[in-house]
Amino acid sequence: MNEKQPSLANHDLSTGSLTPADIIREAISRPTIFKDEQPLSLEYTPQRLPYRENQFRFLAELFRSVVNKPGTTSPRAMITGDIGTGKTALTRRFGTDISRTARTLKVNLQYQHINCREYRGSLFMILKRIVQSLSPQFPQRGFSSDELLHALLDQLEEKNLYMILTLDEAEALIAAEGSTSLYNLTRIQEERPGRQARLSLIVILRETKQLEELDKSTQSTLQRNIIRLEHYSSPQLEQILRERIDLSFKEGTVPEALVSFIADITSQKGDARYAIELLWRAGKYADSEESKELTPDHIRTAASSLHPVLRPEFAQYWNTHEKLIILALARELERTREAYATMGEVEIAYKMACEQYKETARAHTQVWKYVQNLSATGIVSANPSTEGFRGKTTLLGLINAPASATRQWLESMLTATTTPTISASP
Ligand SMILES: Nc1ncnc2c1ncn2[C@@H]1O[C@H](COP(=O)(O)OP(=O)(O)O)[C@@H](O)[C@H]1O
Ligand SMILES: [Mg+2]
Repeated sequence: MNEKQPSLANHDLSTGSLTPADIIREAISRPTIFKDEQPLSLEYTPQRLPYRENQFRFLAELFRSVVNKPGTTSPRAMITGDIGTGKTALTRRFGTDISRTARTLKVNLQYQHINCREYRGSLFMILKRIVQSLSPQFPQRGFSSDELLHALLDQLEEKNLYMILTLDEAEALIAAEGSTSLYNLTRIQEERPGRQARLSLIVILRETKQLEELDKSTQSTLQRNIIRLEHYSSPQLEQILRERIDLSFKEGTVPEALVSFIADITSQKGDARYAIELLWRAGKYADSEESKELTPDHIRTAASSLHPVLRPEFAQYWNTHEKLIILALARELERTREAYATMGEVEIAYKMACEQYKETARAHTQVWKYVQNLSATGIVSANPSTEGFRGKTTLLGLINAPASATRQWLESMLTATTTPTISASP
């Protein structure tokens, strides 16, 4: 869960000789073209989701029994689609709305939306968090994740509660724990014959390919109800942007032609998140120039500062060592100009980076785990080499972003955390 606004890295507001208090006073009295920035923030869930009505209806059909005949079934669904296709927004909207409907029918339904990446792919951490939110006195330690799962169901029974659990970015869970966690989650009901069904599941994955890492039985359970979200087209992005602009910008500050301009720039990826972030940034550039409206140049400046892949939200759950590993990989690839670097080469570059940033290098097994984690979330690729290529090893590559840009991005992030400054870059 991210409560932050998208960050405005590289946006340098010159501070001159003003005191910090002066700067704050000046900033809040400065004119702005925004009416309300909240609808542009990452955690905002829109009321309406144009172009996702059919998928919403499908979810409603699938989960209607949870509200109509609570306790009889525990539906499971899977949602796949690329970044920014609305997976998170769709499920959050659905979860909020179905819980509200359940309340009017006196059914005690709770929606839980969990980002697996935030819990480093650990089902144990996820369950602990849910169980403790249901009963805060629940002991901190002494349970296995299987026991926690039963404890969760016991609590749901005790409180006469039904739960829809969404596991967002479940690739992190699969990377960390393989098949086991999802297998246990989909089988738990069968382990409790004769008891009411209380836990339903929505699993979100970027690609169906990631299902192949699961055992056959979990695969087939999840594949039964699959919702695929396609990239948005340029006119669709335009419509999504327009609705967001009405909520967040003052009237007349965003010329109509610029809406299609942003949609065009971002339609290649069909990524609504990128489009909205670009809009927000462009607005910030307009404000920093005290412009009365958005201009094409504000958008171009925003686009040049915002790589479609190298965005702060991707880095939000990485720890320092994961950042150092990506930095090491980027440096290595920049140096060799190869498509891949071996695990061994990256580890050497990683140790050097650790020295530079005064961190104690982690042992091989830990580094290996971090690499698995990063490859699950899609910034790094990690594949076994074919026989004969510099011996048998793992080859690491960067996905979708140039090595030099990745290096610079990581370097600015790593120094930013060690030397705090009063600038506009958080
Ligand atoms: N159909 C839509 N209508 C309005 N906003 C949307 C729609 N689809 C996505 N968005 C917005 O685009 C951004 C990215 O969507 P998100 O659900 O986070 O994508 P994903 O989880 O697939 O990466 C969010 O701000 C979301 O509110
Ligand atoms: Mg998402």
